Amino acid sequence: MDHSTLDQLLNEGLEAITQSESLKSLYDVKVKIIGKNGLLSEAMKAMGKLPKEEKPAFGKKANEVKQAFEKAYEEREEALRQKELHERLSEEEIDVTLPGKTQFMGGRHPVGLVIQESVAALNRLGFSVQTGPQIEEDWYNFEALNIPPDHPSRDMQDTFYVDDTHVLRTHTSPIQIRSMLKSKPPLRIMAPGSVFRCDSDVTHSPNFHQIEGLLVDRKVSMAHLKATISFVLKELFRSKVEVRFRPSFFPFTEPSAEFDCSCPMCSGKGCRVCKQTGWIEIGGCGLVNPKVLEACEIDSKEWQGFAFGFGIERMAMIKYGIGDIRLFNENDLRFLRQFQK
Ligand code: PHE
Repeated sequence: MDHSTLDQLLNEGLEAITQSESLKSLYDVKVKIIGKNGLLSEAMKAMGKLPKEEKPAFGKKANEVKQAFEKAYEEREEALRQKELHERLSEEEIDVTLPGKTQFMGGRHPVGLVIQESVAALNRLGFSVQTGPQIEEDWYNFEALNIPPDHPSRDMQDTFYVDDTHVLRTHTSPIQIRSMLKSKPPLRIMAPGSVFRCDSDVTHSPNFHQIEGLLVDRKVSMAHLKATISFVLKELFRSKVEVRFRPSFFPFTEPSAEFDCSCPMCSGKGCRVCKQTGWIEIGGCGLVNPKVLEACEIDSKEWQGFAFGFGIERMAMIKYGIGDIRLFNENDLRFLRQFQK
């Protein structure tokens, strides 16, 4: 055992340090050279066998070797730490400029859209929303609206009866009665809501929606009614549609009319939507029958009113070109997503 052994140990150690490519293998080198049972410790043990006078010099040399090794070790350790950090950073790099995953935003149902737009249009004319129960008393749904007990619309084939005195409301008109009993004229109300009729095919659903409009005031005429309907339809179709009245009959209005609008698809020229007629049937309307006013304790000599109602699904089918009413209730996202704004 002499100094050259120590030099050799140091050289070997330094060589192994430079060749270490990871903190792990570098640490293994450290354990091997200066660890408790490492090569240097062994050399130190061998020191015991040296002649006494050689011991201090050998001990000093061994210390120098240890320090030189440690210095090189620390430098390499720092370099490897930096290297591994850089590798990790570039591996885990996040490109914050990449576009995010597309999120599906919820949208309104086409029926909800038409209700929303009808309500907005009528709001601008001073009408406010009223509601009523879907399970309605016979009196509000029929009797007070001057629909006599033998009227065909009471037939079991049209009306869902709940019991002898209750029905699923067949239209939103009972809300006219509820509003007139609740507030004194003048009044302007609208009533969007779900209604029920025992009927089902491509254009009829047993549960659909209507919106009702009612105005009670002095000197109300058919002209006011027509102007109101024209305004609402222009807002809904966002185009200059024409409105025409055709004589009709409803027990709760007198005179009564059905109203059509010029086809918003072809501007009245004739197309598939209007079946080449240039006109589309929208709903029913008229001046409130004095009998209905009297049933609500309103003096029909002083007050007159107009009322109208139309189907929301029918309106949505025209507005969006939908051919089958059943699509509204199928909850098919491919259908519904087309109405997102
Ligand atoms: N309630 C009628 C229906 O469901 C529509 C209507 C409302 C007619 C108001 C006149 C006045 O067919």
